[in-house]
Amino acid sequence: MADGKTGVWLIGARGGVATTVAVGLAALRRGDAPAYGLVTETAALAGVDLPAWDQIVLGGHEVRGGTLVESARELEKGRVIPVGAAERYADELAAVDASIRPGVLVRSGRAIETFADAEHVAACATPREAVQKVATDLRAFRAAHDLKRVVMVLVASTEPPVDEASLPTEIEALDALLDDPLSDSPLGDDAARCPLRASSLYALGAVEAGAALVNFTPSRGANCQAIEKIFFRAGLPHCGADGKTGETLLKSTLAPMFAARHLHVDSWVGHNLLGNRDGAVLADLDHKKAKVQSKEQLLASLLGEAPQSHVSIESIDSLGDWKTAWDHVHFRGFLGVPMTLQFTWQGCDSALAAPLVIDLVRLMDLALRRQEKGAIGALAAFFKSPLGAAPRGFVEETQTLIEWATR
Ligand SMILES: NC(=O)c1ccc[n+]([C@@H]2O[C@H](COP(=O)([O-])OP(=O)(O)OC[C@H]3O[C@@H](n4cnc5c(N)ncnc54)[C@H](O)[C@@H]3O)[C@@H](O)[C@H]2O)c1
Repeated sequence: MADGKTGVWLIGARGGVATTVAVGLAALRRGDAPAYGLVTETAALAGVDLPAWDQIVLGGHEVRGGTLVESARELEKGRVIPVGAAERYADELAAVDASIRPGVLVRSGRAIETFADAEHVAACATPREAVQKVATDLRAFRAAHDLKRVVMVLVASTEPPVDEASLPTEIEALDALLDDPLSDSPLGDDAARCPLRASSLYALGAVEAGAALVNFTPSRGANCQAIEKIFFRAGLPHCGADGKTGETLLKSTLAPMFAARHLHVDSWVGHNLLGNRDGAVLADLDHKKAKVQSKEQLLASLLGEAPQSHVSIESIDSLGDWKTAWDHVHFRGFLGVPMTLQFTWQGCDSALAAPLVIDLVRLMDLALRRQEKGAIGALAAFFKSPLGAAPRGFVEETQTLIEWATR
């Protein structure tokens, strides 16, 4: 058994995924629910030394008000968690709420700024101040709960894509950007020279406080080379990006099948409909670009050549957390005969994501205990755009994960 307690610092702590993590852990601790959806509870990983449910303590940053119990009630209405769960776990949720602090918003994009509440956004004069504020909150969390290790998890709303060419490759160049003044508005900072968005500053705050990082979002701020070097230098692990929970999970499972049978994929079109807050943010064209980029990259590398492809994401309020993906795959077989695969995926987004977040926390705890550093490519099976590894088929990636975890 892993020694001591592990802290999980959720960025976006009252969002759909984070609230489902908090409710899920409370249910697992009380033995109320089966561990379906958790990869770390499969037979293949049974012997791995991972933190138990009661060794995991939650806290985080959030830029909206309200309480976790209110967020849980919303999820009940949306059929994401069982009816009555918000009341049943109210004490556990209140304890997590007590460790939620105002977040930082820096160049986070219009769609997030519209619902963020200035009272719950930390005022910071420079990016360095934002990094220090994040690190200070993390250190206080570690001390208050006597935590042995801390893992930060980005589950905040998707930021617009960052211009990757503008991100520094060297640590010194990144450091030089941190003293640029931010705009007076606590909510946004589009006019500033520093290209770093909040996701980069959270990553730097994690390193500063000696925490590992999981980036479950498509936000690319933590992907820059200078940040990878900073994690490596600090001897800390990180992984990402963008949890692979639905349509892309199917793509990464099915595409290797077409390749192995030498079936030529001419086109692969995917239409995604979802209606939760994530969907509302992704309805904004700037924010949507980051998600579409993350979803589009996979097929060319798995099929050997890029088929004609199209990915759409539409926000349809009435669907709530229940995402529907329609995919149409046109392929050719022997003698060039054209054939079609079509599938419909109707997944409950937060219920698919939350167990993977818990898995990633437990596995990053293992990486911390093994003193692994930099991007952990062995966790690629969890991500649409894996760091530290080229995307491969889901089965291969899962095999790599098992070999790494059971090493
Ligand atoms: N659910 C899935 O299946 C899935 C899969 C892959 C990736 N993701 C990603 O996970 C993220 C969370 O998804 P969700 O459904 O929980 O969204 P959500 O909108 O319910 O929650 C996001 C939370 O982040 C908060 N937030 C936004 N900016 C912040 C900041 N700078 N600091 C602190 N908090 C901030 C918001 O107020 C909100 O409470 C999204 O980026 C989504 O794309 C989700």
